[in-house]
Amino acid sequence: MKKFLDVIGEILEKAFEECGYDTKYAKVTVSNRPDLCEYQCNGAMAAAKEYKKAPFVIAGEIVEKLKDHKAVRWMESVNPGFINMTLSGDFVAEYVDGMYQDADMGHEKAGNPKTIVIDYGGANVAKPLHIGHLRSAIIGESIKRIAKYAGHHVIGDVHLGDWGLQMGLIIEELRDRKPELPYFDESFEGEYPTEAPFTISELEQIYPAASARSKEEPEFMERAHQATLKLQSGDKACRAIWNHIMNVSKVDLKKNYDNLKVSFDLWKGESDAQPFIPDMVQDMIDRGFAHESQGALVIDVAEETDSKEIPPCIIRKSDGAALYATSDLATMIQRERDFAPDRYIYMTDKRQEMHFTQVFRAAKKTGIVKPETELTFLGFGTMNGKDGKPFKTRAGGVMRLEQLVADINDAVYGRMMENRSMTEEEVAEIVKVIGLAALKYGDLSNQASKDYIFDIERFTSFEGNTGPYILYTIVRIKSILAKYMENGGDVREASSIKTPVNQSEKELMIAISRFNEVMEQAYAEIAPHKICQYIYELSNAFNSFYHETKILSEENKDVKKGYIALLVLTKKVLEQCIDLLGFEAPERM
Ligand code: ARG
Repeated sequence: MKKFLDVIGEILEKAFEECGYDTKYAKVTVSNRPDLCEYQCNGAMAAAKEYKKAPFVIAGEIVEKLKDHKAVRWMESVNPGFINMTLSGDFVAEYVDGMYQDADMGHEKAGNPKTIVIDYGGANVAKPLHIGHLRSAIIGESIKRIAKYAGHHVIGDVHLGDWGLQMGLIIEELRDRKPELPYFDESFEGEYPTEAPFTISELEQIYPAASARSKEEPEFMERAHQATLKLQSGDKACRAIWNHIMNVSKVDLKKNYDNLKVSFDLWKGESDAQPFIPDMVQDMIDRGFAHESQGALVIDVAEETDSKEIPPCIIRKSDGAALYATSDLATMIQRERDFAPDRYIYMTDKRQEMHFTQVFRAAKKTGIVKPETELTFLGFGTMNGKDGKPFKTRAGGVMRLEQLVADINDAVYGRMMENRSMTEEEVAEIVKVIGLAALKYGDLSNQASKDYIFDIERFTSFEGNTGPYILYTIVRIKSILAKYMENGGDVREASSIKTPVNQSEKELMIAISRFNEVMEQAYAEIAPHKICQYIYELSNAFNSFYHETKILSEENKDVKKGYIALLVLTKKVLEQCIDLLGFEAPERM
C-alpha cells in the first residue's frame, strides 16, 4: 500500500496543481503541534518566493479548495502561511482497514531485492562471550530481520575470530597440562582421537590461564607465537587441536546465541579466508596496488578530500604475518565468489571504524568489490554502567554474557513475584521471555552509534519506554481478545475496521497507519531504534484508547466488532515489530 502520508500528500498535490502551483510544495508531515492539528503542510512559505505572493494567500487558496474534501474534517491557514489539517475519521479508518485486509498490513517488499551480507556477532573462539559481543549480536540480528522483511536476500555471517594468537596460547597451555596427549608426541603417526581432549568448561578455564601466563612468561608467549605460526602453516597436530577447539566452542556459542534468539545463516570465520590470502597478496603486488613501507606491505588508501589522516592499509607485517585487514579483504574475495553481494553491512564497536574505512577503500581500489557495491560499517557505542564507565561486574571484571542475562532475569523475577499468582514454573518460563525483551529493547531503543547506560532497574520496568511495557501492551490485547472469545465472540467475524467513535480511537488508527513508513525508514537508515520509537508511541496510543473506551461492554455489536478488528491489527503490528527487534511476547505476564 501507499504510505498514508503519500495518500494525503496526493490530495494536497492536486489542490496545489489546481491552484496553479508546483506540486513539489505539497509535502505533508505529521503535525509537530498535535494539540492544534493532525497533519500540516508548510509548502506555501516556499511557494511564496517562486510565485511572489504572500504565503498566507497561497495557504488560503489551498484551504478553500480542500475544506470540503471528504478526507478533510477541518482545515485552516495560519499565519504566516501554515496549512493545518485534521482528517475525517472515515478517511483514516478506510486506510487502516486496508491494512487490516492486507496480509502484510500494507507493507511492500522491495521491487528489486538486493543480496546483502551482514557480518555480525564476531565472537572470538575459545574466549568467553562478553558484553562487547552482545551489542553486535543484538543489533545485527535485528538489522538482518529488518532487511529480510524489506524483501532482500540476506545472509547473516557470524564471522568468528578463530585464527589468532588465542589458538597458540591454548595449544601450549594444553601441552603443559596434558603432555601425554598424542598431539605432543613428535613420533606419533596414527590417527588423532576424534574426542576432544577438553570439555567446554576446561577450555573456558584454559584460555584465561594461558593469557595470564603469557603476560608473565615471555618464554611461554614465544611458544604460543610459534604454535600459532605452525597452525597457520598447516601443522597436522596443531590443526587437530584447533579442530577440537572449534567444535567444542561452536556448540557452546550456538547455545549462547540461541538463548539470545540470535541465529546465523553462515558460521564462517577468519580461518576460512586464509586460503585466499597468498594469491590475493601476490595479485595486489603484481597490479601495483601494494608496496613496501618500512618492511611491511601496504596499500595507500588516503584520498585528497580526507579531513583527517587515513593511514595505509597494512596487509603484511615485516615478519610476514597477515593481519586483521588482510583477513577481512580475503573474506570479501570469498563472499564475492559465493554470493556477489550488492551490499555488505558490518557491525562492531565503533572503535573499529578506521579499520573498516581502510578495508573498504582497499577493496574498492583493488577491485575486490564492484565500484557500485555498497559497503556499510555500523559502529556501535559502548554499554556503560550507571557510573557512566564501561559496564563491569561488581568485582570490577569483564561481565560475562550469561551473568548479565541472569542478572536481568533476576530483576524481572523480582517484579513478577511482587504481585502475581502464577506457579514457579510458569514464572520461570515467562521471566526468560521478558528478560530478553528487556535486554534487547534496552539496547535497540538507543541509536546504535551512541553509548548508553545499562540500567537493569529501568530496562525491566513494566512502565515507560521499555521492552516489558511493550509486551505488557500485547498481553493486555491478547487477554481482551481471549475474554471476547470466552464470552461467545468470534474474532473472525470482526471483518472490518470502522469509523472511530472517539479521539483516542482515531489517534490509535493514526499511529497504526505509520507502519509501512516506519518499516521503510528503519531499513533505509538501518535503524532499529525507529521501530522502538514507533511501538512505544503505538503502545501509548493503544493504552489511552483502552482506558477511555469500554471495549467488551460495548452494546452496539457493530461498533464492538470494529474495536475487535482494531485490536487484532494493533496486536499484529506490534508482534511484527518485536519480531524484527528479535524478541516475542508471552501469553500472560
Ligand atoms: N572478532 C572481531 C572482534 O571481536 C569482530 C569481527 C568483526 N567482523 C569483521 N569482519 N571484522 O573484534
